[in-house]
Amino acid sequence: MDRIKITGGQQLNGTIAISGAKNAALPLMIASLLTSDTLTLKNVPNLADVVQLGRILRNHGTDFTIAGKRPGKNKMQGETFHLTSRDIWDTTAPYEMVSKMRASFWVLGPLLGREHKARVSLPGGCAIGTRPVDLHLEGLKKLGANIDLEDGYVIARTPRGGLKGGKITFPLISVGATHNCLLAAVLARGETLIENAAAEPEIGDVARCLVKMGAKIEGIDTHTLKIEGVTQLEGAVHTVLPDRIEAGTYAMAVAATGGDVFLEGADPTHLQSALDLMIEAGVGIKIKKGGIQVTRGARTKLKPVHVETQPFPGFPTDLQAQFMAMMLKVPGTSSVRETIFENRFMHVAELMRMGANISQSGDKAEIEGVDELIGAQVMATDLRASASLVIGGLVAKGDTIVNRVYHLDRGFERIEEKLSAVGAKIERLSE
Ligand code: UD1
Repeated sequence: MDRIKITGGQQLNGTIAISGAKNAALPLMIASLLTSDTLTLKNVPNLADVVQLGRILRNHGTDFTIAGKRPGKNKMQGETFHLTSRDIWDTTAPYEMVSKMRASFWVLGPLLGREHKARVSLPGGCAIGTRPVDLHLEGLKKLGANIDLEDGYVIARTPRGGLKGGKITFPLISVGATHNCLLAAVLARGETLIENAAAEPEIGDVARCLVKMGAKIEGIDTHTLKIEGVTQLEGAVHTVLPDRIEAGTYAMAVAATGGDVFLEGADPTHLQSALDLMIEAGVGIKIKKGGIQVTRGARTKLKPVHVETQPFPGFPTDLQAQFMAMMLKVPGTSSVRETIFENRFMHVAELMRMGANISQSGDKAEIEGVDELIGAQVMATDLRASASLVIGGLVAKGDTIVNRVYHLDRGFERIEEKLSAVGAKIERLSE
């Protein structure tokens, strides 16, 4: 199993190109199930989750090709995928596949929309909490789906004629349930209203791609989506938006180590709450043409801050662990309240192995700044937690070894290459 070795203490300087967003690429790939034409996606990041979803879609019958290298293309640019679901041969998404990646559960909506039936494994829990799918199922029921649970599978069918538009009011904001219901509603007969929809930029990106495919959607980027169903969708060409979580992670890495890095391609409008917080802490943030400049001078001391995770446009839960790592050496007490997932503090114990002073109780954690962190062997527990361990390693004295790097590979493209190009001492140890 691969590990990452980091020798801390280097400042970061230069440019990091931000990849396409994993959390948009996955539902965009799933959207290809809605049409028999070809959906071309550009700027797809090269990630383990993308590869895994490709396998799942091929199992349903999707032809999947990746364009070869073109002149002028550098290795930091995303891939171009061509996805064609001319016929869907299999409407089952098996446990072995769905359990490896929760987002694959989102095939349920489009399979119901197009094929009027689906059998999709329940995804199960994961390291950051139980993560139920009740909101997905309640939403799809409002569109007329009949849903049974059998042997760990969701068995869903529509009445004759397919899904019918309806009103879905989510009791709490869920990114996945919004994706699933949106992807179902575009082919339902009549109008669907989704209230209290998630408004994460990745949902807007998917909705914009669906519109290019012929869907009728109003209210994109708001909490109320109005969808007028159409009988069929066509192919389209769409470019995946930049990954705001990757951009935020590198911004926090620079804030932690000190240095001056341009995050090329990062979109500040997707990251405003995190940037505001970093500015409050004393990090230099400049919005420039084509990206964000992040600066912290060697002698600039950051100030402690408090953060609470919230659905977009609030501070993203996917940056909570990295935020903690950024504050580990900041004098005074910083604090975090995690309101989205009930068990998203797995990184705390690992950061403490490096000498961090963190006390955690319930949904709150307090970080008491320490003078020094010392490199250690640490274990990646989930995707974003792993990134916080890398940041910890970058500021710790001596060597840090991050084990279970496959978590990182699910969501961060070439993290060691990108960081070493700006001066970090980081390498992958392959076995
Ligand atoms: C997505 C993101 C993930 C991010 C999360 C919150 C992808 C691939 N993943 O995950 O990176 O951390 O949004 O921004 O885009 N819930 C229910 N019932 C449901 C669905 C969700 O109770 O049916 C709860 C969850 O347990 C959680 C909260 O709602 O407490 C938010 O979850 P949700 O927004 O659905 O997260 P995901 O879509 O799984």
